Amino acid sequence: MQDTKNRLTMISQNPIIEIIEKEEKGVKYVEHKEISKAVISRLPRYYRYLGELLEDGVERISSNDLSVRMKVTASQIRQDLNNFGGFGQQGYGYNVKYLYTEIAKILGIDRQHNIIIIGAGNLGQAIANYANFEKRGFIIKGMFDINPRLIGLVVRGIEIRGVEDLEKFIVENEVQIAALTIPKTKAPEIADRLVKAGIKAIWNFAHTDLVVPDDVVVENVHLSESLMRLSYRVCSMQDREAELASRKREEVH
Ligand code: NAI
Repeated sequence: MQDTKNRLTMISQNPIIEIIEKEEKGVKYVEHKEISKAVISRLPRYYRYLGELLEDGVERISSNDLSVRMKVTASQIRQDLNNFGGFGQQGYGYNVKYLYTEIAKILGIDRQHNIIIIGAGNLGQAIANYANFEKRGFIIKGMFDINPRLIGLVVRGIEIRGVEDLEKFIVENEVQIAALTIPKTKAPEIADRLVKAGIKAIWNFAHTDLVVPDDVVVENVHLSESLMRLSYRVCSMQDREAELASRKREEVH
């Protein structure tokens, strides 16, 4: 198939450096490659499609067939996957299981990530109630809030705790990732505490840009921004249709 043996990804700042351990004719060497954030951001979609192919019992697929399913060009697929040493073979296509496993390794979802949720309100509880994250290796270890009425409650087996022992809990439970589902005014202060306690990644839902050291990664998730993009697309479509209809009316008269 190909000679890539192992991959370690240092995901800190853009660009992302992929360290690829290779072996050629018995000689081991390490290759450093810069992978753009754009490529990394497309990998979860590849992973999802490959998972569906696996469920359908498909063992191999050409970049052309994958491109039809995913509605992206075959050359985009080849370019993206070549970043990681290429997983395909001329005339054979991609081995679905292998590619699925390798992308999981690159994304780090073949390992366990311990998570905590700060803010056990509507959004925090919705995340805690979504059991599928565990299948991807994201284990929610605890939830934290300042509301005494919530502290002590249990959501899907996960206890809501007060923030007093946040730092101790992070260390004892080897927590890597914190989901921030608190008001934006409270987010910077909590983010500072999380960083000092050794958190490596923040999944930020609070509507504010956090300032963190270089060795801490932040992934901002803003549903409203996604909705605004959707609004733009639906409005442009409606405007185009209205313009076409008005042109047709003018032609008739
Ligand atoms: P909510 O009011 O139901 O929950 C917020 C929780 O945070 C409350 O239980 C509150 O007691 C707790 N809290 C406040 N300060 C805290 C602190 N310092 N430490 C720990 N807990 C604290 O609000 P909801 O609907 O769950 O939204 C949470 C946040 O997420 C809001 O800032 C909201 O704007 C944002 N949000 C973001 C979305 C996105 O797509 N990024 C979507 C929906 C909400």
